[in-house]
Amino acid sequence: MRDADPQAILNWYDRHARQMPWRVGPADRTRGMRPDPYAVWLSEVMLQQTTVAAVRSYFERFTTRWPDVHALAAAQDGEVMGEWAGLGYYARARNLLKCARVVAQELGGRFPETREGLQALPGIGPYTAAAIAAIAYDTPETVVDGNVERVMARLFAIQTPLPAAKPELRAAAAQLTPRERAGDYAQAVMDLGATICTPRQPACGLCPWVRGCAAHAQGIAGDLPRRTATPPKPTRHGIAYVGRRADGAWLVERRPDKGLLGGMLGWPGSDWNDAPEPAPPVAARWLRLDAEARHTFTHFHLHLAVEVADLPVSAAPYRGHFMPTAEFRPGDLPTVMRKVFDLARGNFDNADASGPHENGE
Ligand code: ADE
Repeated sequence: MRDADPQAILNWYDRHARQMPWRVGPADRTRGMRPDPYAVWLSEVMLQQTTVAAVRSYFERFTTRWPDVHALAAAQDGEVMGEWAGLGYYARARNLLKCARVVAQELGGRFPETREGLQALPGIGPYTAAAIAAIAYDTPETVVDGNVERVMARLFAIQTPLPAAKPELRAAAAQLTPRERAGDYAQAVMDLGATICTPRQPACGLCPWVRGCAAHAQGIAGDLPRRTATPPKPTRHGIAYVGRRADGAWLVERRPDKGLLGGMLGWPGSDWNDAPEPAPPVAARWLRLDAEARHTFTHFHLHLAVEVADLPVSAAPYRGHFMPTAEFRPGDLPTVMRKVFDLARGNFDNADASGPHENGE
């Protein structure tokens, strides 16, 4: 078996690199263009738990609105959380803002160039630090995401199931990382995993590494990586309350910074558990809808009953606050709260104008 050769995948990347708005492609690199560390950082944080396809439009909105780290650092928390709505894993957005403020206020607007320096910043873990160091500064760091793990498992026919295989897969990846063109190399392996070495039915006939691939030689590429079975997710239940005042204002609530959907706008509601207690945010004639909003988080499924009420101008809620209709943008809501709104809106007069920020989910 011939070893996998970094040059083979770099040649492939020179011809087949995917275009992404934060990328400086191989052709532009040869003309001396360098990636903008701000754009690399922002894209890598967005890509931490989200696909390239979903990230594109968010990245473009963010960079249009906040073109550099100083602009982002000066943004209001609520504006950034609103633009992030729909991307999920909202701690990322809170850390993004914290990180922007540290870089702008303490580092003169310059991102550190080393993995260690990057990893000391809020929201930048080992993966993201390595990715930024490699992509923005061409430091020969080993970048390992899910795509890279799959490529390595196949290349070396590693049979150990994930997640136990992680150290072995990282060692395999480290051994291949070249000293030159580290950023292109890291992105080449990710692109290979995303477009050719795909989870099911990999297109081995198109792969620049096929001759070095142990799993291909054994006819088991599509079976790797193996995974330890994970227990099924539990289902939790809750009640969400959508109230609207006679002047059109919505009764919303900003969630506490800590915890799920932290810092995001939402509807007041019960705890989420097996048998939620009613928790209306204000005394009113709450009407339960027939349909419920369903959403899946990392560790559980959520079924939310939805209750709606028309509220008088004198309503004095014990939770949440009224947001005037002109300020309320459904697109600022995290996806589960948006689903609640979409079920509830038909029960109110003139609630169908969806606001300027449709995030296309
Ligand atoms: N996933 C995360 N970062 C990426 C990048 N820079 N290119 C391709 N896929 C990625």
